[in-house]
Amino acid sequence: MVHNRKVSNFALSLRMRQPPGGFNLNLTESLIIIASGHWCNRSAIKVNLTNEGVPRGDAILVMKKTIFDFLQQKGKSRISMLTAYDYHTACTIDEAGIDMILVGDSLGNVMLGYDNTLAVTVDDMIHHGKAVCRGAKQAFVVIDMPFMSYQGSVYDAVTNAGRIVKETNCQAVKLEGGAEYADRIRAIVRAGIPVVAHLGLTPQSFNTLGGYKVQGKNEQVARQLLADAEAVVEAGAFAVTLECVPAPLAKLITERISAITIGIGAGNDCDGQVLVYQDMLGYNDGFTPKFVKKYADLHQVMLDAFRTYKEECASQAFPSQEYSFTMDSSILEKL
Ligand code: KIV
Repeated sequence: MVHNRKVSNFALSLRMRQPPGGFNLNLTESLIIIASGHWCNRSAIKVNLTNEGVPRGDAILVMKKTIFDFLQQKGKSRISMLTAYDYHTACTIDEAGIDMILVGDSLGNVMLGYDNTLAVTVDDMIHHGKAVCRGAKQAFVVIDMPFMSYQGSVYDAVTNAGRIVKETNCQAVKLEGGAEYADRIRAIVRAGIPVVAHLGLTPQSFNTLGGYKVQGKNEQVARQLLADAEAVVEAGAFAVTLECVPAPLAKLITERISAITIGIGAGNDCDGQVLVYQDMLGYNDGFTPKFVKKYADLHQVMLDAFRTYKEECASQAFPSQEYSFTMDSSILEKL
């Protein structure tokens, strides 16, 4: 498939990923650059750039994956997802090539310092979601619907999902719950908004669940989880997050439903995995759930840096000349 089109600077700067070796494009040039190219795969197009007929190199224009790309991955290749709540983290996650970013209502815990997610508002989600969407050039962004933004009625669910999408530019919303919220999911999907359902340990219901516990260990709850997964998929959810579900049950659910499953504490047989980024970076000093693998010890790195800074402020080792500005001493003498 060959495309010939004028590419505006806006489109390029938003969607261009530099090829290895780099690619230089200045602002004036970019306005008149003509790109012709071909699809590398379903989500990227390689373009040859010319300026007044002179070749200016290649660039990869990265397209966001769609829900259909993810559904096609089911059973073939695994999907990676991390949470993010701010612009810079989203940029870094995006640069790493992670498929999906979740702006989780876990922001109540990890960003705002609440004990649980219940106090998080739609406005909080939109505020953080906007920043993440500005940073996510290629990653597919899902934003959580917070507590009481959809539970009350179908009307609330559609109105709040609509606000979240309109105001942030995200690609999907996520809500906690199964068959009991099938009517909300159906209405949101009918409004044109992809939905991720969240089953198993659903933190917004920790009061009725009696705490943060693994869900589905006994036959009754396991049956209910399977029925819920089938009901939310029937209602139109394209993905189901399974949180703290025994690995064999998550495997069975993954095999039984056509939607993709994204596990967190749900074993290795889900179609994808999600972790809270602060957990996997070791950003928090406190309790680490069993299912979290720490890929870094950011807490220690930050603590060491902050302590050294404090010491250097006290000793005046910082700022040394290297970090200071100079001026002509004759000017100073005149003052
Ligand atoms: O809010 C969140 O971060 C989540 C993940 C734990 C899946 O829902």
